[in-house]
Amino acid sequence: MVEEQTARLGETDEAIRSRIDELLAGMTPAEKAGQLIQYFYFRLPGDVENPALGLDVDTQPLMVEAALGRGEAGSLLFVTNPAEINRLQRLAVEGNRFGIPVLFGFDVIHGLRTIFPVPIAMAASWDPETIERGQAVAARESRAVGIHWAFAPMVDIARDPRWGRIIEGAGEDPFLGAVVAVAQVRGFQGEKIGAPERIIAGPKHFAGYGNALGGRDYDEVNLSDYELWNVYFPPFRAAIEAGAGNIMTAYMDLNGIPATGNRWLFRDVLRDTFGFQGFVVSDANAVRNLVTHEFAADLTDAGARAIGVSMDMEMAIADPAYAHLPEAVDSGAASQEAVDASVRRVLEAKIKMGLFDEPYFDEDRAREVLGDPAHRDVARTAAERAAVLLRNEGDVLPLDAASLGSIAVLGPLADSKRDTLGPWCFDFDLDETVTVLEGLRSKVGDAVKIDYAPGIRPAQRRFPSMFDMFGGNAPEDPENFDDDAELQRAADLAREADVAIVVAGEWQNMIGEAASRSSLELPGRQLELLQAVVETGTPVVLLVMNGRPLDLRWAAERVPAILDIWYPGTSGGSAAANLLFGDVSPGGKLPFTWPRTVGQVPMVYSHTLSHEPENQERRYWDEESTPLFPFGHGLSYGSFSYSNLTVDRDAIGPDEAVSVSVEVANNGDREADEVVQLYIHQRYGLSSRPVRELKGFQRISLGAGKSRTLQFGLGRAELSYWNAAARDWVLDASTFEVWVGGDSTAELTTTFQVNAG
Ligand code: BGC
Repeated sequence: MVEEQTARLGETDEAIRSRIDELLAGMTPAEKAGQLIQYFYFRLPGDVENPALGLDVDTQPLMVEAALGRGEAGSLLFVTNPAEINRLQRLAVEGNRFGIPVLFGFDVIHGLRTIFPVPIAMAASWDPETIERGQAVAARESRAVGIHWAFAPMVDIARDPRWGRIIEGAGEDPFLGAVVAVAQVRGFQGEKIGAPERIIAGPKHFAGYGNALGGRDYDEVNLSDYELWNVYFPPFRAAIEAGAGNIMTAYMDLNGIPATGNRWLFRDVLRDTFGFQGFVVSDANAVRNLVTHEFAADLTDAGARAIGVSMDMEMAIADPAYAHLPEAVDSGAASQEAVDASVRRVLEAKIKMGLFDEPYFDEDRAREVLGDPAHRDVARTAAERAAVLLRNEGDVLPLDAASLGSIAVLGPLADSKRDTLGPWCFDFDLDETVTVLEGLRSKVGDAVKIDYAPGIRPAQRRFPSMFDMFGGNAPEDPENFDDDAELQRAADLAREADVAIVVAGEWQNMIGEAASRSSLELPGRQLELLQAVVETGTPVVLLVMNGRPLDLRWAAERVPAILDIWYPGTSGGSAAANLLFGDVSPGGKLPFTWPRTVGQVPMVYSHTLSHEPENQERRYWDEESTPLFPFGHGLSYGSFSYSNLTVDRDAIGPDEAVSVSVEVANNGDREADEVVQLYIHQRYGLSSRPVRELKGFQRISLGAGKSRTLQFGLGRAELSYWNAAARDWVLDASTFEVWVGGDSTAELTTTFQVNAG
């Protein structure tokens, strides 16, 4: 089976082309349009009707099956049941005169059955290998159930944590974002599209979606070309260069033009500049929404304009605009060539995935792959590597099981399986999900007494989540819960224990898509719980479950140890226990600047000097102008120092490169990981450049008392930038400063010169 697949991959581009030519020659306009339509196929529990989504649970699946039967659907999404996938594929293949199979896509964001830490957490590992391995497991599980394509990675830069989808990306930085994007594409796709046990990667949402006004999801985005080229495009470009087979559009207006119908974005940038050859899919209903945006006159116009910018496939719930493509071609509003070019790209993906030869798959194998215990181990290691130790005053961590008699574990999130997984996953197995409480209990067994109390009831969203329609999404509000008595009980447990572990953060339905927030405070009475526990005088460890920075000003002064475990996934509780007891040292670093308060956002480390960041007088009169934790921050159980920072040449020409070297030592008494980060700054030139920009990093492990010398290269790729006056990439002759250290405030520095060519 694997050999056959590999042989098929050998099919030449020429052979693929002529196969497609033959198909195109025989297809009717409706069949061609059908190939360009992707339908949601929803089988939801209960009576869900959502007129805004055009969703009626009873009729929607029937409508999709009818389209399959007519050979007029090119792809489906949201089906994950293997038997259903084979059944629907049979309807498609048998319904189509040419036997054209459908592609099955899904939001495989951080795992399918085995749930990995959420994407922002994976980025916090600063470890491309861990990230690639995680998405390879996700791809393996997906392919085993019949899914061919992931709507991931989300590579949108996010600089406003009010935007809930910050959790789905790699944070604020384009350099880190590009590295993480490449690792994910490789993990999903492997060597090439169609590789065994791999699926197509679909980086999204092109482009600028993360800069939603006010952090409000779907709101308009206004970004200068300077920001687009230097900050928002680089992860997309990197993902495309890594071979991503698909790109998804974005919902919102970019500089006044809906992204999904934006000719400049898709023609000039994506196709002509980045050379993207794969197929583009719209975000859900985004072609229809060209009408809602008051951009297109009607659905026919919407379809014509989207196809005109080479937006190949429309994702729709019902009544797609692309069903009107035949009439748009007849009237001359859309060209036959544009339609054919899009059909060609979609068919090419299907051929490369081997679907024409083998549309069905072995359903029985799915169980075996999904149950593979090795996948849970990969997820546990990822959760360990993703955790960020924000504070550890007095070396409260790691805990020493031998000297502890009792632990109080507090907070509802400590024992919530659903919240341990985080948002944007649907096929998880709650039974095998390990909460923090369970992870601790199984780690210490009978040796240490562990008592648990939620202390408070789960907080609730003021307005419900659209994901509630899938059931089990919102936390349950317990009945007969005596708030004051429970808080008191938690404080009493803390008082009697040797250490108190409080788990606090946001419930998973409070972050993700359509989960923007106007505040960053700990929801509900969590701060009150934390304060009551700290008051007891027992040493406190705060574990944070989050996908965005939260307002931890109080905790950062009063709680000695704070470990950010994010939403750590299926094996998250085991990972947390290993971290707390020092079986592994935390080594992750923040992929975003952590503000003190929502009033400071957006806040990035790579601002220009015009911000006068040091000049408090010109900043907020009621709050510091510095963040609570800087970008790249993260402690460990080691103690790292940096020395001997050197550049091999004092001056170079524009096409030369320098090699930077630095010595890193672990002066602590435990082996630990450090992410060594290199930042640069250009002192003068044709533009004011950011005070610091990340241009290299390496995650290393060092034993106690060990040191290592690391090298980094800096050349044109790292030193040039897109200049708004030249409207092009430039490399200025200038003095460049270099810093290397453990976060974006690194102090060890040197310089070198770039001379004019
Ligand atoms: C999201 C996409 C997602 C799609 C399909 C949309 O609402 O913006 O990121 O892939 O739904 O689930």
